[in-house]
Amino acid sequence: MQERNHSITPKQSGSNWSIQIANWRDYAQLNTLEKACFTPNDHWPFWDLIGILTLPGYVRLKAVIGEHMIGFIGGEKKPANQRGWVTTLAVLPDFRRKGIALALLERCEDALGMPAIRLSVRESNHAAIGLYQTAGYQLVDRWERYYTGGEAALVFEKRR
Ligand SMILES: CC(C)(COP(=O)(O)OP(=O)(O)OC[C@H]1O[C@@H](n2cnc3c(N)ncnc32)[C@H](O)[C@@H]1OP(=O)(O)O)[C@@H](O)C(=O)NCCC(=O)NCCS
Repeated sequence: MQERNHSITPKQSGSNWSIQIANWRDYAQLNTLEKACFTPNDHWPFWDLIGILTLPGYVRLKAVIGEHMIGFIGGEKKPANQRGWVTTLAVLPDFRRKGIALALLERCEDALGMPAIRLSVRESNHAAIGLYQTAGYQLVDRWERYYTGGEAALVFEKRR
């Protein structure tokens, strides 16, 4: 019997990825993606991942090739102050610099549907800061010692 190879390589990826709404069935793949993209300090625990995949008022979008999740973005609506927050965003290392994060961000902004979108990022995360600046975000605040380990958060905002 011929052996099947289910792994996805960048060469196969081309532009044949798409963005879909995620749900609780994506927990295992999201957990794997988070572990591949974040240090243990920043990797979300079980209940946070379940929350973003199930709770009302949240946006959850995945970038996929076939059945394989290669990227994810989560967002939260805060209607009381007319803001949406992007709470997590990651793309697997082999699939970066293809515009996938930018596409996820734009779809999430639309789904949040708020006049202002905010997010926070470690001040040392140059890749993410580069992405947010490319996407039109501007620095609006700085939270000292926000992250585990004592690093400051930079808060970016985009008005729509
Ligand atoms: C940050 C991250 C999501 C970017 O994903 P990506 O799919 O590679 O980003 P894109 O291909 O959409 O990049 C779009 C633009 O953002 C900027 N950008 C992206 N990665 C960058 C990098 N490493 N350095 C500088 N600019 C970068 C560039 O302007 C890029 O356009 P270009 O490739 O034409 O130059 C990805 O690096 C990642 O998952 N990192 C680990 C998790 C993380 O830090 N998430 C953010 C938490 S706040």
